[in-house]
Amino acid sequence: MKREDFPMLKQDIVYFDNGATTFKPYCVIEAIKKYYTEYTANCHRGDYKLSLKVDNEYEHVRELVKEFINAKRSEEIIFTSGATDGLNRIVFGFFKYYLNQDDEILIAKSEHASNILPWMELSRTKKVIVKYIPLDEDYKITLKSVISSITNKTKVISLAHITNVIGDVRPLKEIIDYAHKLGIIVVVDGAQAIGHMKVDVSEMGADFYVFSGHKMYGPTGIGVLYGKYNLLDKIEPLCYGGGMNATFDSTGKVQYKELPYALEAGTPNIAGVIGLGAAVRYLNDIGMNKIHEYEINLRKYLVNKLSNLSNIDIYNKNSEAGIVAFNVQDVFSQDTAIYLDKHNIYVRAGNHCAKILKEELGVKNTCRIGLAFYNNYEDVDKLIKALSNENLSRDIIF
Ligand code: ALA
Repeated sequence: MKREDFPMLKQDIVYFDNGATTFKPYCVIEAIKKYYTEYTANCHRGDYKLSLKVDNEYEHVRELVKEFINAKRSEEIIFTSGATDGLNRIVFGFFKYYLNQDDEILIAKSEHASNILPWMELSRTKKVIVKYIPLDEDYKITLKSVISSITNKTKVISLAHITNVIGDVRPLKEIIDYAHKLGIIVVVDGAQAIGHMKVDVSEMGADFYVFSGHKMYGPTGIGVLYGKYNLLDKIEPLCYGGGMNATFDSTGKVQYKELPYALEAGTPNIAGVIGLGAAVRYLNDIGMNKIHEYEINLRKYLVNKLSNLSNIDIYNKNSEAGIVAFNVQDVFSQDTAIYLDKHNIYVRAGNHCAKILKEELGVKNTCRIGLAFYNNYEDVDKLIKALSNENLSRDIIF
């Protein structure tokens, strides 16, 4: 679908590492180029035409993102450098002050490092407790497993919308409805979901939702922190400086700006925001539901074909998103990736920053395919052909 929109696909390659980052369509590249060649200026600082144009473009993207995820107010959209930045701001700008000693944070062992390490770090400094929701036999979490993990000390649940190795889509609406009845705040890491399915933060009820632009066909270095206004307004900035203050004097009297500017200190990543806006428009034109449906069908085809090969272990056959984790039996995942690279097929190998998933999965490393809508059935056939080799293990190793 839409392969002609992506300059990178002019190369004779099969790119399956979309969980790490996605290729960019021409419209994103052109939007960034246009900013740098036709209307470069800073934003929120100038009184001349160029700067006002930048202000308009920048704030228009905030509006676009608000609609894209169905937030209630544009002030609830904060531009960050990515999902990791967003999660760190939530943990150290909000929960550092909100939590008390012995309060419990629920996460899962299938989370990405960015949704584990900030919490672990906080647990060291604040004496709060990180607990893991048990995973079922498909390495998923269910409402039941969440309920069984909640105690009267649970104050926050922080989960990926779609996990980056297992690719399970969490039943977030049910979890959030239940959590809210108990006054528990829910944080969602949307990095692997935002480019692959319709995200509706209002319907889901998420208190905070973060994502990265580069995993949704936009530029690197830009991301979004969404938060419900009353919670977002309580985040302490982790960064102070220009753009976020209304006034200050030599005595130390300071007044900070309102949201969203209070959380966007310094010159923002203007080109990144503009590129992100182009990506949002592009995805809207295709339709997120269409993308989701296409990727799910492609996944079924891929899993079916891979399952027919006798020497492949698939770890997440029953997941719902376009992520497939596998290994060639008795072969180190990185060796498989290097072998596939010789066929110009790009997969990611390793632990994918989900370093404690191995405690559940029983293997440390896997090869990961992350599908995008520009992958086609031919890409899958090429992979299967490369793996359909009676002496595969021998050929990979030697
Ligand atoms: N978080 C990215 C991944 O899962 C880099 O590959």
